[in-house]
Amino acid sequence: MARPFVFLYFLLLVLVSVTSVASDQSGEHEVYVVYMGGKGSSTPGTLRDDQARLLEPFSQRNGVVQVYKHGFTGFAAHMSKEEANLIAQEPGVVSVSRDKMFKLRTTRSWSFLKLLKFQQYLDNPIMSSTELHSSKVRGADTIIGMMDSGIWPESKSFNDKGLGPIPKRWKGTCQETEDFRASSCNRKIIGAQNYEIRNKTCRDVFGHGSHTASTAAGAPVPGVSYYGLALGTAIGGSPTSRIAAYKVCSDNCADSAILAGMDAAIHDGVDIMSLSLGPDSPIVNIWEDSVAIGAFHAVEHGIMVVCAAGNAGPSNSSVTNDVPWITTVAASTIDRHFYASVVLGNNHVIKGGGIQFSSLSDSPKYPLIDGVSAKVQSHNISDKLARNCQAGSLDTSKVKGRIVLCFSEISGSPTFSVIMNQGARGLVLVNDDKRIEDNIILEGFLTFPFSIISSKDGNAILSYIRSNRNPTATIRRSGTSTGFKPAPVIADFSSRGPSCLSHNLLKPDITAPGVNIIAAWSKMNPEFALPGQAPPDYVIISGTSMSTPHITGIAALIKSQHPTWDHSAIRSAIMTTAVQTCIDGSPILRLPGLEEATPYDFGAGHVNIEQVMNPGLIYETPITEYYLFLCNYGYNISTIKLIAKNIPEGFSCPKNANTALISNMNYPSIAIAKFKRYTERKVTRTVTNVGDEDEAVYEVTVDAPEHLNVQVIPETLHFTQKYQKLSFDVIFSTKYTFKSDIFGWITWSNGNYRVRSPFALSLTDRSSK
Ligand SMILES: *[C@@H]1O[C@H](CO)[C@@H](O)[C@H](O)[C@H]1NC(C)=O
Ligand SMILES: *[C@@H]1O[C@H](CO)[C@@H](O)[C@H](O)[C@H]1NC(C)=O
Ligand SMILES: *[C@@H]1O[C@H](CO)[C@@H](O)[C@H](O)[C@H]1NC(C)=O
Ligand SMILES: *[C@@H]1O[C@H](CO)[C@@H](O)[C@H](O)[C@H]1NC(C)=O
Repeated sequence: MARPFVFLYFLLLVLVSVTSVASDQSGEHEVYVVYMGGKGSSTPGTLRDDQARLLEPFSQRNGVVQVYKHGFTGFAAHMSKEEANLIAQEPGVVSVSRDKMFKLRTTRSWSFLKLLKFQQYLDNPIMSSTELHSSKVRGADTIIGMMDSGIWPESKSFNDKGLGPIPKRWKGTCQETEDFRASSCNRKIIGAQNYEIRNKTCRDVFGHGSHTASTAAGAPVPGVSYYGLALGTAIGGSPTSRIAAYKVCSDNCADSAILAGMDAAIHDGVDIMSLSLGPDSPIVNIWEDSVAIGAFHAVEHGIMVVCAAGNAGPSNSSVTNDVPWITTVAASTIDRHFYASVVLGNNHVIKGGGIQFSSLSDSPKYPLIDGVSAKVQSHNISDKLARNCQAGSLDTSKVKGRIVLCFSEISGSPTFSVIMNQGARGLVLVNDDKRIEDNIILEGFLTFPFSIISSKDGNAILSYIRSNRNPTATIRRSGTSTGFKPAPVIADFSSRGPSCLSHNLLKPDITAPGVNIIAAWSKMNPEFALPGQAPPDYVIISGTSMSTPHITGIAALIKSQHPTWDHSAIRSAIMTTAVQTCIDGSPILRLPGLEEATPYDFGAGHVNIEQVMNPGLIYETPITEYYLFLCNYGYNISTIKLIAKNIPEGFSCPKNANTALISNMNYPSIAIAKFKRYTERKVTRTVTNVGDEDEAVYEVTVDAPEHLNVQVIPETLHFTQKYQKLSFDVIFSTKYTFKSDIFGWITWSNGNYRVRSPFALSLTDRSSK
């Protein structure tokens, strides 16, 4: 079905416009990011000689914007295109790229219409039926570095009640400005630093940074709601973790600032970085992607990096932040719903969805009309346009004062603005997809009554209108319900695989709640305030920005339980324990259209915190696997050595390096590009026994579609020791010509643990798209 609305997601998030550039005042000089690879043996915090030499002329003319010297090397400075080209030739320079602005998709240009999706995950059965917040599993001293829009320190979510002293290994600071005092930091917010050059303060003027930080690690705050909706206790995934806020965005985020924040966080000693931001289209040159660069060096320093997949769904290959050293998070709904009831003149009640604060009477006394009946008198307007309430199709005199029923069978319908501008009393919008996923806030029009209903209900209302001389209705103010089905559903906006880097790597990795999440907000942003009221302390918004900190919080809990586990062990635990079914056992679906979701939508599935602490087996991906990935991806050894300064002495790229070998990376999922009949494809994986018993026997089961042969050798893994590693091969073959990409699952089980990996066999690769 065509998309009924233009999607305008809130968020700094995932919305980089790659072409836009921060330009210098002079008009000629622009900011370029000069990336010079790893630190190697040079002392963190000092400049490498070649870096100092290259910086010199820019320092002299005050052109330096950022200097990277802790976790990696480089700088950002104002320079001309010619200078940038010259510097790119210098030995020691990996890449020179114009500073890209990660920015809000420009909601204003789409008029005042704004689609947001709302709610709270805490009462969601998937999340609350666990020991997540029991004293046994507490997130303790894990330090989470949030790269975002700063923090609102006065939020109750950031109180430090019950927290012990700041971990000794912490080396970061709390940067003071007039409106952000040292006392704004505490045992919860242990650091705050600003790298956003346009505004000096660490204070979150926007709200996004406070939302994501409180979702990852907010303290429990009872009695929280958004004007009465989603009432409950707000709590982060890892409520005892510490937060270090790196402000790298205001209304948008510059590459140069993101790199500076990540460089500082490596120095400061964070355990996990969380980035609810990224480019809005995939970046294929890895070394021009600030998040990929920063994350590479973070992972080298033992830090896990969790990033948003993006909000560019449902298009195929829209996933971003998809390098293998990042954990990439998709977004899905939860079972909480905001209903908005439509009551017809015959007292029939229809439960639609949406968030609005209607002040209409509860009794159905307002005249009701459908688009076709309200059609403007004109020979050139079709009934179809009017049925969908398209601009110019409705007669204002018929719409005014009435509740209007509109279908959304035409893409891009600006129904809300059309209806509101014509003086309607309210809107009943027929849209099956939106009813499941979206609740809509019209910025500045929170009080406009609307309800989104299913097509079945839409047709029922239409017959009611047709069979009554004076049809009437009302739309009641929204309320909250739980137990909504189906849930979870992959959000329409959630970016999809296959990865544009290579179809030999499966991305995203996992999905988590990202639709209608309630969390802390900034008191300086009135965007979601009811008319005449102060900005709310908590708001409900949606995006992969919101799902990402859920995974960050869970990763922090795993880290506290298993302090020696590296990023890949934690990611493996999250992925191999994931679920692919809803609470009622039916398969997880995706929007639009409610088809069965595939690993291109959710990677390994939906995070499952029941099992995540005890995965049984893990797939470890040591750094050398990423060096090999770079070889196979096509970088030569001189470039790789420039980036990975600590690469082992004897490391060299295999002679036969090629993209097909990327499939062999010891990743918890399997992806193979250019799969075709009569050609056997083999991958090898190694698992580590982390179960409680030394002795463990795992048997494999394979879920594969008809006509696909999948052989696992051996079919039994017999472990005799904890931490023992065993390898197996998986061989895929077929005699059949598949018409579309193929998905399936490989599951190791010993009765106690179920270790499940998705596979995706693509008929193409990115180059042949
Ligand atoms: C900068 O931050 C201050 C709060 O400290 C805020 O009042 C101001 O609006 C911000 N300016 C911009 C351009 O974001
Ligand atoms: C996108 O992927 C889905 C399933 O993976 C497939 O059915 C669909 O045809 C693809 N769409 C395009 C435009 O390639
Ligand atoms: C219909 O005709 C009117 C007047 O001739 C014109 O202004 C309008 O743009 C037309 N609308 C469409 C949708 O073609
Ligand atoms: C390695 O790749 C870089 C960048 O493409 C190129 O400039 C350099 O000449 C290559 N080095 C070798 C030894 O091939």
